[in-house]
Amino acid sequence: PNNVGIHAIEIYVPQRYVDQTELETFDGVSAGKYTIGLGQAKMGFCTDREDINSLCLTVVKNLMERHKIGYDQIGRVEVGTETILDKSKSVKTVLMQLFEQSGNCDIEGVDTTNACYGGTAALFNSISWLESSAWDGRYAIVVAGDIAVYATGAARPTGGAGAVAILLGAEAPLILERGLRASHSSHVYDFYKPDLESEYPRVDGKLSIQCYLSALDKCYQAFSNKALRNNSERITLESFDGVVFHSPYCKLVQKSLARLLLNDLIILSNDELSKRYPDLLSLKETKLENSYFDRDLETKLLANSKQLFESKTKASLLAANQVGNMYTASVYGGLVSYLISKQEHELRGNRICMFSYGSGLQASMFSFRVSGTSDKLSMLLEGLSDVSDRLNNRVKVDPSDFAKTMMIREETHHKAPYVPVGSTDDMLDGTYYLESVDDMHRRQYCRK
Ligand code: ACO
Repeated sequence: PNNVGIHAIEIYVPQRYVDQTELETFDGVSAGKYTIGLGQAKMGFCTDREDINSLCLTVVKNLMERHKIGYDQIGRVEVGTETILDKSKSVKTVLMQLFEQSGNCDIEGVDTTNACYGGTAALFNSISWLESSAWDGRYAIVVAGDIAVYATGAARPTGGAGAVAILLGAEAPLILERGLRASHSSHVYDFYKPDLESEYPRVDGKLSIQCYLSALDKCYQAFSNKALRNNSERITLESFDGVVFHSPYCKLVQKSLARLLLNDLIILSNDELSKRYPDLLSLKETKLENSYFDRDLETKLLANSKQLFESKTKASLLAANQVGNMYTASVYGGLVSYLISKQEHELRGNRICMFSYGSGLQASMFSFRVSGTSDKLSMLLEGLSDVSDRLNNRVKVDPSDFAKTMMIREETHHKAPYVPVGSTDDMLDGTYYLESVDDMHRRQYCRK
């Protein structure tokens, strides 16, 4: 098949959020730490009524309904998540409830886990299926979803929650570029979840930032090398209309775009550098591995990459800024945000670079091309037309109520039997919620 890629995307975020300015006051930190220092405005969160199964049920059902896709048209469903409710039974099998009525049980795929990277692993697997001899002409669905919650302390404001469902097939309007993707993987304890009883990770904040930035360097270099070798193309930031990152918090993404500029400076010739960035000539000899926390360097790069950030990346941070880190869904929420920031005619022909990072660590860089001609692009964009309204129409919750909700989740996580106490009043119609957990830990869901 040709032009394998994305036909439709659905995003779901919880209806409740806490305001980061109010959270700064509540947490007793200096004003601006979360909003300016981290670049976050709102943080979405779930009560005990929602879990990873319900988030994924909601987003897949909404995708199918909105685009009027028959359940028999799906041949593969794969879920990327690090929100683990069960060490054996996959979220994918829970999603099979949606397919029951259609009688379609012939569906490949299960769950994939590595921190925020599982969605990308699922995407690559599903693309491979579409390009393989096993492909039977049907679509694949990739679901990336997580509930990101941290213990009280420095990391708490970098939580979030949400899920994205992606419909993949041939002759798509958003095409994954072939032969051009690069990964970096290594063994490190930057962020991990060794306590299976708790939703909270162990996190070494500073190390995780260093790992993220170094994986970004490595992926960009490997991506550029492949483009040069395979297509004789020299990659710089100018090669892309959009650059979309996994967003733990928005400020890190702005620094990451600046970091790619640094990578460009190193490969540009002195002549080009003098013409384009005369103020940055001295940075050409920078040793990447010694520069992660170099303040002066960072300040210069941020100032000089401002225009690039505004034109290629800023728009992709809408969901990240308004919801927070959705872990596996974050980079795809970034893609959605980028797509809804432009008119269809502006998007045509765009090339979008994606950087996906999962602690531990596994990271990849890859790229999409927006078809210049496909008549299916309008359907994809039409499906996203209510995203900003949905983000704007959520319910703000007091930080003290948010903290109480976190306590309830802590105390009742994995409890059985259990009947959730969270209200379903605020939920949008069509949202799945947890009705009960029986004494055998079996979960029942309802749809509002
Ligand atoms: N006004 C403006 N800026 C402020 C203010 C203020 N009042 N106060 C602090 N800041 C700035 C700081 O200068 C700092 O800026 P910098 O990053 O440019 O140095 C920023 O706000 C954050 O402040 P710190 O004191 O450095 O933050 P802290 O140690 O409290 O924690 C961290 C930040 C490490 C990101 C923490 O939230 C965390 O651990 N998060 C989870 C881990 C994470 O997301 N890692 C990223 C990759 S891995 C992943 O995706 C999970």
